[in-house]
Amino acid sequence: MTATITYSHGTQSDDSVESVFPKGFYWGAATAAYQIEGAWNEDGKGESIWDHFSHTPGKIKNRDTGDHACDSYHRWREDIALMRAMNLNSYRFSISWPRIQPAGSGPANSKGIDHYSRFVDALLEAGIRPFVTLYHWDLPQALEHAGGWPNRHTASRYADYVDLVARALGDRVSNWMLFNEPSAFLHLGYLEGKHAPGRKSLFAFLRASHTVNLAQGAGFRALKATRPSARVGTAFNMSACEPATDSAEDQLAADRAHAITNLWFLSPAFTGRYPEALAFFPETAIGLKPGDRAHMRVPLDFIGINLYYRTIASVSRGILRVVSPQQWLFPVRMAGGEQGPKTDIGWEVWPKALYEIVARITRDFNRPQIEITESGCAYNDGPDGNGVIRDTRRTEYLRQHLHWLARAIAEGADVRGYHAWSLFDNFEWAEGYSQRFGLAYVDFKTQQRTIKESGRWYAKVAAEGRVEARS
Ligand code: FCB
Repeated sequence: MTATITYSHGTQSDDSVESVFPKGFYWGAATAAYQIEGAWNEDGKGESIWDHFSHTPGKIKNRDTGDHACDSYHRWREDIALMRAMNLNSYRFSISWPRIQPAGSGPANSKGIDHYSRFVDALLEAGIRPFVTLYHWDLPQALEHAGGWPNRHTASRYADYVDLVARALGDRVSNWMLFNEPSAFLHLGYLEGKHAPGRKSLFAFLRASHTVNLAQGAGFRALKATRPSARVGTAFNMSACEPATDSAEDQLAADRAHAITNLWFLSPAFTGRYPEALAFFPETAIGLKPGDRAHMRVPLDFIGINLYYRTIASVSRGILRVVSPQQWLFPVRMAGGEQGPKTDIGWEVWPKALYEIVARITRDFNRPQIEITESGCAYNDGPDGNGVIRDTRRTEYLRQHLHWLARAIAEGADVRGYHAWSLFDNFEWAEGYSQRFGLAYVDFKTQQRTIKESGRWYAKVAAEGRVEARS
């Protein structure tokens, strides 16, 4: 699992031929409850850590909040019409835990359940697969008061919540993700403090990581107990980790970066163990108890991959001069690449990274089922004088990523679907509304949605199941 792989550089795929995708491939788009729903305190919904965080001055750019967002809680019929206009046959969305359990425990709030139930029915009627994320970062604030993810009891609360949702929707929803990007929300929320709940503690981060691994196991078993035929995975944030130079030290750093970024929540599920490259971790700091290995281990039915960029790893020279908990924890320097163009949020465009990670996961995990659960870019193009959004850079981004994905499939990867992030512009966490990732443009004053040129292009790809050759 720690095999070293060689990377050849280059931003271009061999896109001089068209790429044809397998029959039955899922063409989708992804969103998350807090980023689109709004209606933050309606119909009995409880406060989430993101409500709390965004209502705290200084946390979010421009003091933006998700209070109204895209108002999808009320406008979901319009959202489905957009999906239909883009020929999508899969929609990845998340359920807001505090809509189901306002205080994070106890019986289900029927209004919350009814909302998602109606929505799922409407998706199915439109011929769109509901692809449901159970946790996309909006923990009930009451559970944060009780210690949040660093408290290992939160794993049991999570399993109870999963059970409620599975009972209510599992007769119609067959495809589930337990978590969205565990590594991202734990780093940003517990170590760096940039996301909710805004903690900056190495100890909290380690404990929270372990609870989430336990919760992944407990949630999987809860879902399967209620719905044995459910297909259950997690959407992991992944990155192709390349060594900065050919030196043996940097190669080791790249292996470590891979373990930290891509395996920390995947290995516990598949093997019951934290990745070998991280063996220097004190298990007591993580809070590992006898029996935990067996609890974390669950045979996920598919691996969801969210990928936005590659990572360049090098040995950290700062290891002896400890300057931050992160450096102590990860004596590896990880940075984005600098060779490709940058999107408006500053992330390097490197489409081959999608191919690299899909190929590596395919090889190292014995050809698992894979879903691309997120892939996309922030470009802030707005309407021109005729109301047309000519976001050609986004079309090019998607085109190149899809060519590389097709190549991984042609070489044997079992990829079932691709979900563009995002269906439409929405609340981009600490960036507020300043970064537009959508296939459709949202005017946040009027809530009008307009399909961008990239969305029209994607609609054609979805209808035909192929991406044209470079013209
Ligand atoms: C991912 C998140 C998603 C979105 C994109 C841009 O890390 O899963 O919610 O914010 O980034």
